[in-house]
Amino acid sequence: MHSLQCVLQVQRSLRWGPMASVSWLSLRMCMAHSSLSSTTCPNPERQEDGARKDFSSRLATGPTLQYFLRSASAPQEKLSSEVEDPPPYLMMDELLGRQRKVYLETYGCQMNVNDTEIAWSILQKSGYLRTSNLQEADVILLVTCSIREKAEQTIWNRLHQLKALKTRRLRSRVPLRIGILGCMAERLKEEILNREKMVDVLAGPDAYRDLPRLLAVAESGQQAANVLLSLDETYADVMPVQTSPSATSAFVSIMRGCDNMCTYCIVPFTRGRERSRPVASILEEVRKLSEQGLKEVTLLGQNVNSFRDSSEVQFNSAVSTNLSRGFTANCKTKQGGLRFAHLLDQVSRVDPEMRIRFTSPHPKDFPDEVLQLIHERDNVCKQIHLPAQSGSSRVLEAMRRGYSREAYVELVHHIRESIPGVSLSSDFIAGFCGETEEDHVQTVSLLREVQYNMGFLFAYSMRQKTRAYHRLKDDVPEEVKLRRLEELITVFREEATKANQTAVGCTQLVLVEGLSKRSAADLCGRNDGNLKVIFPDAEMEDVSNPGLRVRAQPGDYVLVQITSAGSQTLKGHVLCRTTLKDSSAYC
Ligand code: 5AD
Ligand code: SF4
Repeated sequence: MHSLQCVLQVQRSLRWGPMASVSWLSLRMCMAHSSLSSTTCPNPERQEDGARKDFSSRLATGPTLQYFLRSASAPQEKLSSEVEDPPPYLMMDELLGRQRKVYLETYGCQMNVNDTEIAWSILQKSGYLRTSNLQEADVILLVTCSIREKAEQTIWNRLHQLKALKTRRLRSRVPLRIGILGCMAERLKEEILNREKMVDVLAGPDAYRDLPRLLAVAESGQQAANVLLSLDETYADVMPVQTSPSATSAFVSIMRGCDNMCTYCIVPFTRGRERSRPVASILEEVRKLSEQGLKEVTLLGQNVNSFRDSSEVQFNSAVSTNLSRGFTANCKTKQGGLRFAHLLDQVSRVDPEMRIRFTSPHPKDFPDEVLQLIHERDNVCKQIHLPAQSGSSRVLEAMRRGYSREAYVELVHHIRESIPGVSLSSDFIAGFCGETEEDHVQTVSLLREVQYNMGFLFAYSMRQKTRAYHRLKDDVPEEVKLRRLEELITVFREEATKANQTAVGCTQLVLVEGLSKRSAADLCGRNDGNLKVIFPDAEMEDVSNPGLRVRAQPGDYVLVQITSAGSQTLKGHVLCRTTLKDSSAYC
C-alpha cells in the first residue's frame, strides 16, 4: 500500500494558475509506509494497541478514490441541523473527543482568532474539552499565519519546543497529538509533515469541519491532512464560541478569501477564493451576541467591503458594482447580490447600543452609500482602515493595487468630507520589489499628508507562489528595508500624535473593557476611533439613573474628558456612565 492512501487533485478554476486552482486533500498513513513507520510512529504503545490495529485495518479497507472525488466535488452546503454520516471507515464513536483536552494557540490576524473559535466550536460539539494549560493537553493545535516569513519562523520555533514536550510524553506513554491549522498548513501542505514528523494533523482554513475525523485518524498513530480549499465554505452555521466570559466585543466573520491578487500577498493562495456568508446567518449571529450582552461587533473578512451575498436568487440582477472614484478592480467585477452597504445597514439595526466596526476593507470598495451610512448611523464607528501599502504610484502599480497615489488621496479627502471626524488607519509595506529612495520618500510624504490615527507597518517579505515571487525581484537589501521601515514608524508616530492631540479637551464616548494593564487604579476602554483610552477608576453619575453613583464595569459606556494624547493612547477622566444613544448629544 502507498503512503498516500488518497491524493486528490480537482481542477476547479484555471484563472489563478496551478496552485490556487487545485483542491488538494490527502490522508497520510505513516504506519502503512515502511520508511515512515519507524520515524513518524516511534511510539510502541501505539503498535501494541489491538483496538487501534483494528482501526488501521478498517482504514486500509476504507474509502476509495471515488469516495473522495464525490466528497470534493459536492457543494459543501450543510445545515447545522443536518446530521452528517461518519466516513465509512470510522465508527461514530471514534469521531468523538471523549473528553480529551485541547489546547489552542493562535498566531496572526483577527481572522485567525475567529477561526480558532470556529475550530473550537466544532471540537466542542464533538466531545472535546478545552484547556488553557499546555501541560495537561492531549491535543495541541496551532492556528497559523503565513503572511510574512517571520510569522512562519515563530511557528517553526514553537514546534521545536513542542517536540520536547511530545518526546517526554512518549516516554511516559501519555500520547500527545499536535496539529497545524490555517494558512501555514495550506501553504506548506505535506512539507510540514515531512519536516516535522511530530505533527499529526494538518487542516487548511476551509477544513475545520473535518477536524474530528482528522484527530480520530491521528489517534490511531497516523498523520492526517485536509487542505482542500472550498469555493463556498463560510462556516455560516458554526456559531463561534466566545472564550472570555467578560468580553465586551466579538468578531463576526462575514466573508472569507480574497480575489484581489495583490502581487506581494499570499492570502489568495492560503485562504482561497472570495465568498460571502449569507446575510441572514450573519444577522442571526449578531442578534445572539446582542442577547448575550456584547456591546461591540467587528465584521471580519479579508476584504469586507467587497461583500456580496448571492445566495438569494432574487437579488442577483445585473446591478453594476460601484467602486470608489478613480479605482479599478484587478479581478473581473461580479454583479448582483446583496452588497456591503445593505449588510452594514441591517447589522447596525439589530441593537442601537451595539457598536459596529469592520476590518479589513480594500480602498476600491467605498461607494458613497457606504460612506453615507457610516456618517448617519450612531452605532457604526467613524473609523476606517484604508490600507495604502505605498505612497508611490509606481510601486502601487507593481503591487497591482488598482489605484494611484492621487486617487487614494482624493478618496481620503472624500471620506473626510463625507464623515467629519473620521479616524483613519492604514497598512504600509517598506522595501517592496524595485522600491527606490524616491518611492520611499513618497510613502513618507503620504504619511505626513494623511496623518493617520493608527498604522500597521511592515518590511516586505517575499512569499513563494505570489506574482511578485514569479515576476519581480526582491532587490531592496534587508538593512535598507529595515531602515525605511524605521523611518516610516517614526513619521507615523509623529503624525499620529498630532492627529490624536486634536482630541485633547474633547469629551469622548468610551466602551469600558476592564482594568488597565499598567495600573489597577485605572480603567481602559476604546473610543469610537478604536484608540485605547485610559482613565482613573472613579465613582461617577449614571445618566439613566440620576442621583445614583456607580463605578464603571466592562461593557459600560462612559463619557471621558480627554486630557492628553500619544501616538497610541489617550488619557482622561471619567464624567458619567451613559448609553450610546444618549451620548450622541455630547459628541
Ligand atoms: N510582506 C510584508 N507585508 C505584507 N502584507 C501582506 N503581504 C505582505 C508581505 N509579503 C501586509 C499588507 C497587508 C497586511 C495585512 O500585511 O500591508 O495589508
Ligand atoms: Fe492580500 Fe491584497 Fe487580498 Fe489584502 S486585498 S488579502 S493585501 S491580496
